[in-house]
Amino acid sequence: MTASGLDAWRGVAAEGNEELTGQATIRLQRRSRRLLGSLLRPHHRTLWFAVVLLLLQNAAAMSGPYLVKVGIDRGIPAIDKGDGPTVLVVVTAAFLVAAVMEYLTKRAFLVTSGRVGQAVLYDLRTRVYDKFQRLSPAFHERYTSGRVISRLTSDVDALGELLDGGIDDLVLAALSVGSVGVILLFLDLPMGLVTLLSFPLLLLLSRWFRRNSAIAYRRTRESVALVIVHFVESLGGIRAVQAFRREPRNQEIFAALNNDYRRANERAFKLIAIFAPGIKLIGNVTVAVVLVYGGYRVLGGHTEVGVLAAFLLYLRRFFEPMQELSMFYNSLQSASAALEKLSGVLEETPTVAEPHEPVPLPHATGRVDLDNVRFAYREAIVLPGLDLHVPAGQTVALVGATGAGKSTVARLVARFYDPLEGSVRLDGIDMRDLAEKDLRRGVVMVTQENFLFSDTVAENIRFGRPEASDDDVEAAARAIGAHEFIAALPDGYDTDIGKRGGRLSAGQRQLVAFARAFLGDPAVLILDEATSSLDIPSERLVQRALRTILADRTALIIAHRLSTVEIADRVLVLEQGRIVEDGSPAELVSGGGDYAGLHQAWADSLV
Ligand SMILES: Nc1ncnc2c1ncn2[C@@H]1O[C@H](COP(=O)(O)OP(=O)(O)OP(=O)(O)O)[C@@H](O)[C@H]1O
Ligand SMILES: [Mg+2]
Repeated sequence: MTASGLDAWRGVAAEGNEELTGQATIRLQRRSRRLLGSLLRPHHRTLWFAVVLLLLQNAAAMSGPYLVKVGIDRGIPAIDKGDGPTVLVVVTAAFLVAAVMEYLTKRAFLVTSGRVGQAVLYDLRTRVYDKFQRLSPAFHERYTSGRVISRLTSDVDALGELLDGGIDDLVLAALSVGSVGVILLFLDLPMGLVTLLSFPLLLLLSRWFRRNSAIAYRRTRESVALVIVHFVESLGGIRAVQAFRREPRNQEIFAALNNDYRRANERAFKLIAIFAPGIKLIGNVTVAVVLVYGGYRVLGGHTEVGVLAAFLLYLRRFFEPMQELSMFYNSLQSASAALEKLSGVLEETPTVAEPHEPVPLPHATGRVDLDNVRFAYREAIVLPGLDLHVPAGQTVALVGATGAGKSTVARLVARFYDPLEGSVRLDGIDMRDLAEKDLRRGVVMVTQENFLFSDTVAENIRFGRPEASDDDVEAAARAIGAHEFIAALPDGYDTDIGKRGGRLSAGQRQLVAFARAFLGDPAVLILDEATSSLDIPSERLVQRALRTILADRTALIIAHRLSTVEIADRVLVLEQGRIVEDGSPAELVSGGGDYAGLHQAWADSLV
């Protein structure tokens, strides 16, 4: 395999990971914080409640060893002196109460934080999905479906990890380390100071771990994103992959990416394998030192046995959270990288934006005007300055060579893009001033790649007008000439048509898409090569239907087949984004221009 194929895939990883300047980093962090803030704000009361629970839990946990100390130093000697077991009983009861309280508060906390965490993730996924749905085609052309999926899965999961297990561990660990540190110094200052001698070692080890694991974790996140992207995109085109026998090559690319991911994880695990037992070792050595030193202090009468026992118990609660503190750092890193990307998507402004104060247009008549429309997808100008005025109800056929800009005109009329200059108007209102719902009801476009969803035929047709009854759906199918083939399907209208309508032929899919558009009953109907996969008899059938459908609405038909063009009131010939001929089909045939030539060639081909 060429290195370039793989590098192209690896190159995707560069996304969002470029070396950032200081200011850009601050901007990113601010954006992430804004997102996190807006996600958490609705839950602030519950969060405060969770903080209270954590404080209680910590207090209960901290009282345990102290009660052990009181039991040993007061309770047992009291019995020895003949004062009875009251003190020991009270202390033991208090110890049990503390234990139960720790159980209850921890449980309540986990339930509460789990609920908030899931609510936040739910909200986030909804927002991201909603945003992706709204973003214009121009955005989706550069943001591949693999990246979309990676945002919705692994990035949301990274945040989930932080919310579910990270933040509470962090707070609890910090509370625990802080309070134990203070308690130790109060219990016995010299022994506390000896314990603190382990600190420099702990700090060094933690710093080493954080540094290296930040790099390692970033690598795992990059490589898992690549695995997902490759997975989605290569399997999305599975038919082409199989047709061109590209499986081995894809397999190789996947194996390499998968291997990158494995190696990145291995590296991360190796770091943990040094770090976690390392902390434990330092902890145990400290316990040993304290045991010896404390033992001598007890023997010398400088401190009591209970204090030593409490000390040893506290030490365990001191070193364990240390591990979590550093582990948390990784969750935080992953989550903040994810937040950066997610907030980037969420703050993306659609190039085709909804107006703040839309002009209402509940019933469009279907007059379409393009005034001096200039348009380019990227650099090259596709439409240098188009003027086109279509009165309501007219059927216009757009013809011209491949790449002339026919589909581009259609997309502008359907407002998938906005013009760079000039305006596109429906019933005299600039499309940019129309509410999305008025626009989508007024203008419907059917393309060659008419998209069907894995659902029944009936639901796919109903998509055109969700409130339509079953009778409406069937009437639409009959009008379009699709009823016969649908009725012949195993379950008729209730037949599941499979992923993207894969169980239907291309022509059948187009008929369903037509029925859908017909049901939508738009004022303006755009057909972009929508009849091109129909066989000649079906096309005739559709043409008969088309005449009825087009009768009382404006239509823009793009078709290479001149038989379809013949039914138009008016034909426009487009050449490099300019209208070079404009007239009725009969006028153009007799006019001797490009269209006459095309028509002649077509007529000849029929002979
Ligand atoms: N999404 C896009 N991004 C960038 N350039 C595009 C895009 N779609 C079309 N173009 C370019 O715009 C020009 C006009 O394309 P358009 O799709 O409008 O042609 P067309 O007349 O519909 O051709 P065809 O008959 O082949 O469908 C072409 O040069 C094409 O390369
Ligand atoms: Mg086209």
